[in-house]
Amino acid sequence: MPIPIRLGIIRSLYRTTVYRSVSILRQSRQLSYSRVSLAHERKEIAVPPPIPAKIQDLILGFRASRSVIAACDLGIFDVLHDSDEPQTAEEVAAKIIANSDATEQLMDLLVALELKSRNGELWLYSNTEVASQYLSKFSPYSILPFVTFTQTVAYPLFGKLETAVREGSDQWMNTFGLSSEKLSDVLYRTDDAKLTFMAHMQCTSLYSSHAVAKAFDLSNFGSCCDLGGNTGLLAYTLCQYYPNMKITVYDVQSPDLPKADLYVLSRIIHDWSAEKVDVMLSNIFNCMPSGGGLLIAEMLLDNDKAGPIGALLQSLFMRTITNGKLRSGEEFKELLEKHGFVDIEVKRLDPVASTDVILCRKS
Ligand SMILES: C[S@@+](CC[C@H](N)C(=O)[O-])C[C@H]1O[C@@H](n2cnc3c(N)ncnc32)[C@H](O)[C@@H]1O
Repeated sequence: MPIPIRLGIIRSLYRTTVYRSVSILRQSRQLSYSRVSLAHERKEIAVPPPIPAKIQDLILGFRASRSVIAACDLGIFDVLHDSDEPQTAEEVAAKIIANSDATEQLMDLLVALELKSRNGELWLYSNTEVASQYLSKFSPYSILPFVTFTQTVAYPLFGKLETAVREGSDQWMNTFGLSSEKLSDVLYRTDDAKLTFMAHMQCTSLYSSHAVAKAFDLSNFGSCCDLGGNTGLLAYTLCQYYPNMKITVYDVQSPDLPKADLYVLSRIIHDWSAEKVDVMLSNIFNCMPSGGGLLIAEMLLDNDKAGPIGALLQSLFMRTITNGKLRSGEEFKELLEKHGFVDIEVKRLDPVASTDVILCRKS
């Protein structure tokens, strides 16, 4: 019994096949006919527009970023920083314990990104100067803590941007299953997490702390308190520029707010909700002596909110990490005036500083 059924299927398949071939033949005849007629008219071909390079780069930009992060994580820049001579891909692969062919693929991309150079017939690779200076853990200017934080914290959180925008919330629970009710508890939940965060903050303010210290003449202030001062890097930098200033670092687990002539809030206000910022500013204002100052350091948005792109991206990132956001200089002026501050000076710094600075006083 099963045999006729199978034969039936085969027959119907055969018919379908024959039918399709005939129909394809007919279509191709029609096509060649229409090609002839198009050749006469020469105007009906609708060529779709190419995908603009800018759009392609925006969609696929993560691949370059991810490749550089992977190369840092694999230690490719360290191996080449550490070797006296350029190395073949095979030698590098053996040292980082990786697949030789895939390592070569990654290193060729790094050559195109100008982070490696390649010489000789044997294809010997070495780091370019900029890669050695910033991407190797052996350099004093290494940004590897920033890379590690980006890879392990920022990248996963930013991956939930759609939800952050839909809900207007940070993404700790959604990404890591962690409650962010008290953010410092999340950032300092283990020794590893604490070290990753603190090393990242320190590394990203190595240069900007100098830009902040030099933005205004602060020599009239005898004492200063850096609120949320983390590792104390900005305090240390301020000491270098103002050796007579007495500087205190206040952070989680510090006792009551110390008295000071100048308070500093560096990369703090964009972390908090408007209500908490109001509480913070009014506490600081009440603590300050008359003539005292408040120095705020963080990236500012343009007043029309159309840029800079780096600040707009940072603002979205703050949404995913703290449910905070960046403000414009005008928004800051309005906020500070509301709390009674006067003589508000907003200074936009060079984008390489990754920060802008505001100084204001209590009259
Ligand atoms: C984004 S980091 C900024 C660190 C530093 N000011 C800088 O610019 O590198 C925020 C800092 O605020 C501190 N912080 C968070 N909650 C705090 C609180 N309730 N009291 C004091 N410091 C706090 C954190 O421990 C962390 O050092």
